[in-house]
Amino acid sequence: SKSYSITLLPGDGIGPEVISVAKSVLNLAGSLEGIEFRFKEMPMGGAALDSVGVPLPEETLAAARQSDAVLLGAIGGYKWDKNEKHLKPETGLLLLRQGLRVFANLRPATVLPQLADSSTLKREVAEGVDLMVVRELTGGIYFGKPRGFGTNEKGEEIAFNTEVYASYEVDRIARVAFETARKRHGKLCSVDKANVLEASMFWRKRVLAMASEYPDVELSHMYVDNAAMQLVRNPKQFDTIVTNNIFGDILSDEASMITGSIGMLPSASLGKSGPGLFEPIHGSAPDIAGQDKANPLATVLSAAMLLKYGLGEERAAKRIENAVMDALNRGFRTGDIHSAGNKLVGCKEMGEEVLKSADSQAPVA
Ligand code: NAD
Ligand code: IPM
Ligand code: MN
Repeated sequence: SKSYSITLLPGDGIGPEVISVAKSVLNLAGSLEGIEFRFKEMPMGGAALDSVGVPLPEETLAAARQSDAVLLGAIGGYKWDKNEKHLKPETGLLLLRQGLRVFANLRPATVLPQLADSSTLKREVAEGVDLMVVRELTGGIYFGKPRGFGTNEKGEEIAFNTEVYASYEVDRIARVAFETARKRHGKLCSVDKANVLEASMFWRKRVLAMASEYPDVELSHMYVDNAAMQLVRNPKQFDTIVTNNIFGDILSDEASMITGSIGMLPSASLGKSGPGLFEPIHGSAPDIAGQDKANPLATVLSAAMLLKYGLGEERAAKRIENAVMDALNRGFRTGDIHSAGNKLVGCKEMGEEVLKSADSQAPVA
């Protein structure tokens, strides 16, 4: 039978709670498809700062690199918020993405029919939304130099960051976006701030230059401020969105709320080769950590993306997606997506219901 090695990075806050659920679901879906997983759990983020003294220990990055795929919970928390930059949990995550060279971050936002009333938008606006944010993940202002703290000519304190993109960085993410749009509904919207920022003018020019290779994809460009507005005005106009690191971070959190909760949104981060990194788009949710309240479905669906995009195991991925749908159809809801008439459950119980659904499913055709 097939066997894969998976590095698990539970991290902080609700991270360990949601990873524990995703691990059981992976094990069950795997066993039903004759796939064995060898899990290796490694410290990362605040947990690694406390135990090893750095947010991304060398052993953790090495294990991640050597495995077939990496599944991360979430990192960060109040305890480490005042740490110096190189000792922040978030710095560990950026180093991990950089170390794995996963430049393409796919963040799908789909309004499931069962959750159309959980959206804060009107049902008729939210229903049927199915979009994909393709976020550039290893460049832009998150990594650009120069950066830091200093003083200006008047002796005043300043701080600065740099938004910088090389042509190869824009081209490779644009390529992923065009290919993604081609496999979806053939519409690609590139989001930038080309009316102000040179890096965005360059981005727009490079994306436009690739369009002739994709005559079947309808390309449009939109400024990010307008895109933020259009996402809540009429989200159904979007199919695939491609954007830089920071705009993608912000717009994907915004898009998540259309679907009902940030607790539902998975992501896949992929490079040219090597293992992919799979994580929910939400953070460590310190406000609900340790209370068995977290919605594990974003992480469970990230595990499905791991199977599909990371390992090419589409049948096992489909099993997980179907099981999530079935548990929702049977009325189970964590607090973030709960509404009258549904069954309110905690993180663990939601996981158990997904397992029951997966176990009782007919084989995937
Ligand atoms: P957050 O996503 O952790 O939480 C925002 C809000 O959403 C909170 O009210 C939280 O309770 C809720 N929420 C998030 N995930 C949920 C889930 N699965 N189920 C139910 N509710 C959920 O964002 P934040 O509060 O801005 O950040 C908290 C910490 O997480 C910070 O340290 C931040 O840097 C870090 N963070 C990490 C990641 C990551 O690991 N990839 C992503 C975002 C933020
Ligand atoms: C995310 C997070 C991270 C990001 C932080 C924690 C570094 O917000 O994964 O969306 O900004 O990319
Ligand atoms: Mn984010």
